[in-house]
Amino acid sequence: MDKMWSGRFSAGASSLLDDFNASIMFDRKLYQEDIEGSIVHATMLHAQGILTQDELKLIVDGLNQVKKEIESGEFEWKISDEDLHMGIEKRLTQIIGDAGKKLHTARSRNDQVAVDFRRYVLRKNKEIAKAIELLMQEILVVAKKHKDTLLPGMTHLQHAQPINFAFHLGAYLSMFKRDIERFESSYERNNISPLGCAALAGTPHNVDREKTAELLGFDSVSINCLDTVSDRDFALEILFNISTMMMHISRLSEELILWSSYEFGFVELSDEYSTGSSIMPQKKNPDVPELLRGKTGRVYGALMGLLTVMKGLPLAYNKDTQEDKEGVFDAVATAEISLEILKEAIKTMQVKAENMQKACEIGHLSATDLADYLVEKCNIPFREAHFITGRAVAKAEELGVDLSKIELKYLQEIDSRISEDVLELLDLRNSMNARDSFGGTASTQTQKQLEYFENYLNSKGE
Ligand code: ARG
Repeated sequence: MDKMWSGRFSAGASSLLDDFNASIMFDRKLYQEDIEGSIVHATMLHAQGILTQDELKLIVDGLNQVKKEIESGEFEWKISDEDLHMGIEKRLTQIIGDAGKKLHTARSRNDQVAVDFRRYVLRKNKEIAKAIELLMQEILVVAKKHKDTLLPGMTHLQHAQPINFAFHLGAYLSMFKRDIERFESSYERNNISPLGCAALAGTPHNVDREKTAELLGFDSVSINCLDTVSDRDFALEILFNISTMMMHISRLSEELILWSSYEFGFVELSDEYSTGSSIMPQKKNPDVPELLRGKTGRVYGALMGLLTVMKGLPLAYNKDTQEDKEGVFDAVATAEISLEILKEAIKTMQVKAENMQKACEIGHLSATDLADYLVEKCNIPFREAHFITGRAVAKAEELGVDLSKIELKYLQEIDSRISEDVLELLDLRNSMNARDSFGGTASTQTQKQLEYFENYLNSKGE
């Protein structure tokens, strides 16, 4: 019968209930947020004349001691204390006596947990955005070296048109920039203080919510307490943000896996970030991108899990909500290590530019250029030009050469309107550079894109 809420009970809780009901083994991660929240709450209670100066001092010193005990590992986390809020408050009261019992005035665990968890999620939105920035910087370093490196651009995983490797990496820079913006906008939207909402309806005590919001670094105070204590949109948002970011990481990983196969041979991951086989001595496996691709699944799981927890809850707080934390903690840890290791893998990988280039000579990547030439220079309707180009591709296949290397006479046999100036257009590099429209692959356009990302990253660093 040592529970804080035991007043109306005549029998103690079963240990089975304790095991089932407790969150202390995982919500202890929020101890910093919880202690800071309590110090700010007590500071406000004192300013409002609800706590004396002595009581405030005892509480602040006591909470700081609890913090020390937690950080030194001395603190005893007990399942029977149910959650970190009660565990910390109980220890505080053991240390300072009756003043500790006044801390929970004008507060409920419902607004307390909403403060702690929201502040943790806000912090992580910032930290993850920063980590994406560092990954982008590493991608940019590689991209800058390869705006003239030809690479087969694909659709349907089939050779389509020649692009350059930096342009391909620029696509990922675009994705990761959007990811950063998503974390930032979640931060802005959710930077609202729940403290003072109490259990669900506010409090009759004369609290100063503006003051606690300010002291805790929130931008403003939430407008409706009933919503605030049950709202977990902020947690869903970070899960969605992480899921989308991991989806991007997973797509890049998929390409790294393909590219490091013998069939592609476009990159080689460094020994530091590759693994061997226990049976096949010759093997070098891309475990890092494979795991990144795999871990994306568990992050989606956390998002679906919390959406499902929330969907049927009547207002306001329900204990179901306690299921919000573990998925977020896991997704955040997954995001952090994933960003870090992908950054290192990219930094240390070897780009095999010659193989990329050679691969461009398979698949008649400049066929579209021939069709465009027939339209522009020979005034042939596109449908017909498409057909003539098809014949030229068939001829090149028959001769066993790539269309970019075919002799003029064969093209002229197919259509006499074709003249020598076509050869320049069929050249793969010229074909890549011909796509000079804004946002296109031409090296000059790619250069503009890289400058755009560089300016973006520089503006973040300021
Ligand atoms: N451990 C709870 C949670 O994580 C804290 C809030 C509990 N409030 C309550 N009235 N039972 O959601």
